[in-house]
Amino acid sequence: MLEAGLASAFLLLECLLLINLSTSSAPPDPIRCSPGTGKCNITNIYGTFPDRSTCQAAAAVYPTSEQELVAAVAKAAAGKRKMKVATRYSNSIPKLVCPGGDEGVIISTRYLNGIVSTDVEMKRITVESGVTLEELIEAAAKAGLALPYAPYWWGVTVGGMLSTGAHGSSWRGKGSAVHEYVVGVRLVTPASAGEGYAKVRVLDAGDPEMDAAKVSLGVLGVISQVTLELQPLFKRSITFLKRDDSDLAEKTATLGNQHEFADMSWYPGHGKVIYRIDDRVPSNFSGNGLNDFIGFRSTATLLLGINRLAEETLEATGNAEGKCIDSKLTTTTISIDNYGFKNDGVSFTGYPVVGYQNRLQSSGSCLDGPEDALLTACPWDRRVRGEFFHQTTFSIGLSRVKDFILDVQKLRDLNPKALCGVELYNGILMRFVKASSACLGKEEDSLDFDITYYRSHDPMAPRLHEDLLEEIEQMAFFKHGGLPHWGKNRNIAFDGVIDKYAKGGEFLRIKSLYDPEGLFSSEWTDQVLGVNGTTRIIKKGCALEGLCICSEDIHCAPEKGYFCRPGKVYKDARVCTKN
Ligand SMILES: Cc1cc2nc3c(=O)[nH]c(=O)nc-3n(C[C@H](O)[C@H](O)[C@H](O)COP(=O)(O)OP(=O)(O)OC[C@H]3O[C@@H](n4cnc5c(N)ncnc54)[C@H](O)[C@@H]3O)c2cc1C
Ligand SMILES: *[C@@H]1O[C@H](CO)[C@@H](O)[C@H](O)[C@H]1NC(C)=O
Ligand SMILES: *[C@@H]1O[C@H](CO)[C@@H](O)[C@H](O)[C@H]1NC(C)=O
Ligand SMILES: *[C@@H]1O[C@H](CO)[C@@H](O)[C@H](O)[C@H]1NC(C)=O
Repeated sequence: MLEAGLASAFLLLECLLLINLSTSSAPPDPIRCSPGTGKCNITNIYGTFPDRSTCQAAAAVYPTSEQELVAAVAKAAAGKRKMKVATRYSNSIPKLVCPGGDEGVIISTRYLNGIVSTDVEMKRITVESGVTLEELIEAAAKAGLALPYAPYWWGVTVGGMLSTGAHGSSWRGKGSAVHEYVVGVRLVTPASAGEGYAKVRVLDAGDPEMDAAKVSLGVLGVISQVTLELQPLFKRSITFLKRDDSDLAEKTATLGNQHEFADMSWYPGHGKVIYRIDDRVPSNFSGNGLNDFIGFRSTATLLLGINRLAEETLEATGNAEGKCIDSKLTTTTISIDNYGFKNDGVSFTGYPVVGYQNRLQSSGSCLDGPEDALLTACPWDRRVRGEFFHQTTFSIGLSRVKDFILDVQKLRDLNPKALCGVELYNGILMRFVKASSACLGKEEDSLDFDITYYRSHDPMAPRLHEDLLEEIEQMAFFKHGGLPHWGKNRNIAFDGVIDKYAKGGEFLRIKSLYDPEGLFSSEWTDQVLGVNGTTRIIKKGCALEGLCICSEDIHCAPEKGYFCRPGKVYKDARVCTKN
């Protein structure tokens, strides 16, 4: 009787959840479990991994405290089950969230989202790992404090940012990566039977093992709490300048040295760059600016559908010129709306936009979108027909940046129109990141390039001028030594990647110390870390999705006229070219 009552209460809850999920504009939970078997499917915010596989777990748990978290890890470890952490939105593109095999356990940090303490005197904040960047910024600002640098999207969690090395843009201080400001971590790892199968490891700033824990890909255990070093809340002043890209290669380093929060958006098809001139200013400067970036706002799903259809049509008809025209249209609209920056929080009246760090550093208003039965959504929401893209994101060491940009310009000059496609996704975003002591952090001061481009819903469909982006991807990773963003990219970016890190071996040593049985490792992390196998997948059409570098025509789409050919500037590249 009680059982039946509970079961129907659960069913009711399930129905309520379903209604909620289908009506809210905010992204759905990445975990979906069957009420019958308890088995779960896990995905990322886009609903698709680079290899389009689905991944599964035997169960999901939602701890609400460190104590429950320790119990969850202990239970899985005692049963020798694989584990992986999932976050509220699961923003990463690669298969990081999948536990090994399909009998693992998913530990969600959705309800591990409390602010533990704020120390105004010491300028420190301690939070549970599931706290989102949005919540962190808000809590810090309430205490008159600010995180100096952060990703531009506030839907990420503290645990996720640490695990993937997430960053904003700066060469000042310790640079723009959030993990550089970590001074304490509480990490739950498997332990011996005598220790109860799980334990909390407490790491402080000076601890050598901290260099592994700061960027861990989620393979060391579950981050329970993080203490971050903050700064007194400050103001900044932002101006966007549009310029020709002819001297871009020379200008980048100076820009990073001159302006604390500078970045660049490069529109290679049109030969333009939007420079972000962005600096800290004294707090008596007037202004209460707000950043509500257009690309992260709730957008009418009807409009998203129209845009996607337009892009698909240009692809299908091979109309590169059309992409250039559309790019001009979107960039004009965006710059009229000033990317979403407002001087007083309501409207844009002119540059500079001056305001407090917490209102300018990140945004993501689509997360708090209305419950309107999906009339609006985040532009890439998997439940609607909207944006669907690949992302190639890498950092190039300062010593190679100039050559890399010149190479891309050489390639562009052969056919400028072919690169307008990336402009439909706000161009190539270029941000500053500094060398890190983290084992899997940046090896040297670098410029990070974020390239977003069309992905077909059909994995066998070649993309318009895909050879150029494949050549740029291979130039970045194999000619100029680029390091991938751990939370983005297609498979080939991670092929042999661990050899690029001087402290890769050190990371593996600490991993086997913390998790000797590899319960937090999966097929994917074993491939990325070079422990077992490779991220390369060789099969028909594999190069179209970046699963392989083509070596035979069959890896492209010969029946559609796409053959495996050498690159045009980087001759060692092998790309799918239309004959
Ligand atoms: C719209 C958008 C904009 C973005 N903008 C930026 C940007 O400006 N800068 C940038 O650097 N990146 C950006 N990203 C990428 C993003 O930063 C990374 O994907 C992000 O850091 C992942 O955070 P998450 O909380 O979603 O973690 P997830 O993607 O869910 O998890 C990533 C990995 O971390 C592990 N993990 C998470 N929490 C824990 C924990 N508590 N303990 C142990 N392991 C854990 C997971 O198991 C997984 O392996 C953006 C992504 C999107 C979708
Ligand atoms: C998980 O995915 C499989 C395969 O796509 C599907 O058959 C199953 O119904 C899904 N389970 C849940 C709980 O959504
Ligand atoms: C801000 O304060 C400084 C020092 O108190 C003063 O010199 C300056 O003129 C002030 N600036 C503005 C814009 O009020
Ligand atoms: C290596 O990976 C393969 C394929 O995923 C798997 O079958 C095998 O068991 C793995 N070997 C080890 C030692 O983990």
